[in-house]
Amino acid sequence: MSNQNYYQQIKEQWKQDVKKTEKRFPERKQTFTTSSEIEIERLYTPTEPEDTYTEKLGFPGQFPYTRGIQPTMYRSRYWTMRQYAGFGSAEETNERFRYLLKQGQTGLSVAFDLPTQIGYDSDDPMAEGEVGKVGVAIDSLADMEQLFEQIPLDQVSTSMTINAPASILLAMYIAVGEKQGVSPEQLTGTIQNDILKEYIARGTYIYPPKPSMRLITDIFGYCHEHLPKFNTISISGYHIREAGSTAVQEVAFTIANGMAYVDAAIESGLEVDQFAPRLAFFFNAHNQFFEEAAKFRAARRIWAKIMKEHYKAESPKSWKLRFHTQTGGSTLTAQQPDNNIVRVTIQALAAVMGGTQSLHTNSRDEALALPTEDSARIALRTQQIIAQESGVADTIDPLGGSHYMEALTDEIEDEVNKYLERIKELGGAVQAVEEGFMQREIHQTAYEAQKRIESNEDIVVGLNEYKLEEEVNPDLLRVDETLEAGQIDKTKKIRSTRDAAEVEHCLAELREAAKVNNNVMPHIVDAVKVYATVGEIANVLREEFGEYTGM
Ligand code: 3HC
Repeated sequence: MSNQNYYQQIKEQWKQDVKKTEKRFPERKQTFTTSSEIEIERLYTPTEPEDTYTEKLGFPGQFPYTRGIQPTMYRSRYWTMRQYAGFGSAEETNERFRYLLKQGQTGLSVAFDLPTQIGYDSDDPMAEGEVGKVGVAIDSLADMEQLFEQIPLDQVSTSMTINAPASILLAMYIAVGEKQGVSPEQLTGTIQNDILKEYIARGTYIYPPKPSMRLITDIFGYCHEHLPKFNTISISGYHIREAGSTAVQEVAFTIANGMAYVDAAIESGLEVDQFAPRLAFFFNAHNQFFEEAAKFRAARRIWAKIMKEHYKAESPKSWKLRFHTQTGGSTLTAQQPDNNIVRVTIQALAAVMGGTQSLHTNSRDEALALPTEDSARIALRTQQIIAQESGVADTIDPLGGSHYMEALTDEIEDEVNKYLERIKELGGAVQAVEEGFMQREIHQTAYEAQKRIESNEDIVVGLNEYKLEEEVNPDLLRVDETLEAGQIDKTKKIRSTRDAAEVEHCLAELREAAKVNNNVMPHIVDAVKVYATVGEIANVLREEFGEYTGM
């Protein structure tokens, strides 16, 4: 078939896909126009498509998804406005959640404190001074119930940034849903559950790589059975970029990690199309607008080819790279914090022009502290103004076809594939991480970037140029110092009022399952329901799997 005929064929197919989509997701308006009443087309394509158009770009919602994963993208549904939030007690965070939902955010995203992220209860000596500091303190199901008080879990999707103890917090979320009368099958959301990037860049790991990968695939298997709408992992490049990687390294190391999870899931006995549709991704958005938008387009094309051609996945849902974006925390300056509103706007625009499914916009004061309510509102309003006032969501993949954008997309794809080849030669991502390859690459890049800033080769406004004689200190959020004691009392009370024999029995069942390599999820669900705590459950697994002391 000639290229021209093939082009016409897939264009017709796309028109059919649009009609099908309209049933569940009709477009937001009958017609979209500019301020001068010029009608805005759903998609702009070349009048004389180049031979490579169908292979490199195609149409939105079609392999290789360069132009977006949905046939109508934001013309039907904006990206989810999903602000990462959490601090102090479950009650305080519940208040912030309900405030943000009232201000129009359309998805939840839970930040847990470090003790929770590393599997310690608030009264563990290791938790001292960290309870409720960088996220919400969750010890038992009682805290999780308070966290989602007056928030109907059948009407909102929730992302949970939790990795090593992901199975425990997912189990608690299931239990809260059931208490609200929401069945596991109805729950929507995402568990981050990505341990490899913790070894590479973030650090909240507990167990050695092998048992950690097993815990991850236990969640894949359990969700395949019981939580069909829940995204089982958010394969993250965000923290890799925050550690100092380039955009190319961010995509390459994230996709390499993604392939390691696919391999592990297949090794655990799952068929690729049983779990791949619920894999999700999470990327950063830094200041170089065009590179960031091109990065997302390239990532979709790379992943689509890997899943279809390498893993032979047959379901198109397995080929689609669906991702969340958070604007770059490390680009925020403590100096002149209001300037950060502009940085975040540029970064958020890049994510939208790159076709993100979900977005968090950082607050102006986050280089100094957790965001105040005012700063968090401005961050959300930034997304709402982009959506409602800029017009960029009114046509699909607006940068597509730009010579610069397509060249950048191709170049990033080529560079990422070179890294994937190198990682394959090392034996894959797990071996590359254990060998320190990714870490070394990131450290070198970070060092060179810092040198460029210190030599003023790279200008950061307000930091090394355009400085103020005197900085004005903004109002900052302070976490209540008495919180730790209150949280400890709460958890001690739970322990004294629950059925100790039931807890002991459930923890023993969990230990047995861990020993004989059975899926631990059902036992963790049972344990949280009798108010076993995060620390108690994580400690059983510490005893069975050992702790990892670092690469
Ligand atoms: N046409 C047709 N269908 C559409 C559509 C359209 N235009 N737009 C959306 N939909 C459908 C989708 O297909 C989906 O339906 P399905 O589940 O039946 O397929 C539904 O509408 C919801 O849409 P999405 O799945 O695209 O949007 P979500 O927001 O629900 O999910 C995600 C997005 C990326 C897949 C998901 O994984 C997600 O929400 N991730 C968020 C992760 C996150 O917030 N992480 C924060 C981490 S913070 C951190 O780590 C940093 C800290 O350490 C500093």
